[in-house]
Amino acid sequence: MKKLISVASLTAAMSALSISASQASADELVLYCSVDENWCRVMSEAFQRETGINVLMTRRSSGETYAQIRAESGQPRGDVWWGGTGDPHLQAAQEGLTARYESPRLGELQDWAVRQAEASDYRTVGIYAGGLGYGYNTRLVRGDAPACWSDLLDERFRDDVQVANPNSSGTAYTMLATLVQLFGEDKAFDFMRELNANISQYTQSGSAPIRAAATGETAVGIVFMHDAVAQAVQGAPIATVAPCEGTGYEIGSMSLIDGGPNPDNAKIWYDWALSAEAQALAVQANSFQVPSNSGAPTPPEAPRLEDVKLIDYDFERYGSSEVRTRLLQRWDREIGSL
Ligand code: F6P
Repeated sequence: MKKLISVASLTAAMSALSISASQASADELVLYCSVDENWCRVMSEAFQRETGINVLMTRRSSGETYAQIRAESGQPRGDVWWGGTGDPHLQAAQEGLTARYESPRLGELQDWAVRQAEASDYRTVGIYAGGLGYGYNTRLVRGDAPACWSDLLDERFRDDVQVANPNSSGTAYTMLATLVQLFGEDKAFDFMRELNANISQYTQSGSAPIRAAATGETAVGIVFMHDAVAQAVQGAPIATVAPCEGTGYEIGSMSLIDGGPNPDNAKIWYDWALSAEAQALAVQANSFQVPSNSGAPTPPEAPRLEDVKLIDYDFERYGSSEVRTRLLQRWDREIGSL
């Protein structure tokens, strides 16, 4: 009898366990996040507080996240890819790795964010924008202030410039595509070959170079200007440069992963992340991009893109599978191998 009771209570306990296990998975969201870790955390915690949905978050750079989603496409494990530069989001869309979704909040967004959705047949959407540039440590750089891309080739910066690897980082891919659009492809590769003499390290994450410049480990970090501003706001001796020849920009994006385990929760996140309230959380995380929701405040510290000489960045071309894959292979062959 005693044995029976214990078996019965064990079965009851087990079914209670399995109910809570299935409830737990129903209340979960697997988030692949490609902005700075701090912002990923602020967003995940706020969403969890508001909805009760438990967020399992992993932070990886844009190119790395794209590669992960592609590798997992036979059995997708992530639900939402939030943040990171738009090009690899567009490539994922073109390759059918991400799902079509028209959020009811599209009407609240800036035109550039909606265009990103239209260009991908609603498989991705713009969540913020930011211009590319570089930052330098004002204590380490003496003499004329650098102001152009060409200034980075100067001998005084020998082994004193950092930028990320464009395979892992969306920031560095934006630089590659920007130089190609500014100078033409062959000249852009000549420029990067020359620049290589001044590069001490190709980092994995796009913003690592400016963190290194802030601590004096390198003089110059090629990054999005808002990442340089973030260091200056925290008191680091960093000046931000919008290169004189002109520069490219990103439309930071968000996509739903096709076939992810929690598609309903993914849509709840998607709609929430497009809201003005959610986008206003960026400043709490020391992030100064321009938000895509027209009702979200642009932080006063955010670089004013209207004052920057921006190129007409061709997102469809440089976010296409063919062009992005080919340019990265060429970079590996001609620059990465040096
Ligand atoms: O969060 C900072 C940020 O610069 C974003 O604006 C951008 O989308 C992302 O990081 C790019 O990171 P990575 O170059 O590591 O892919």
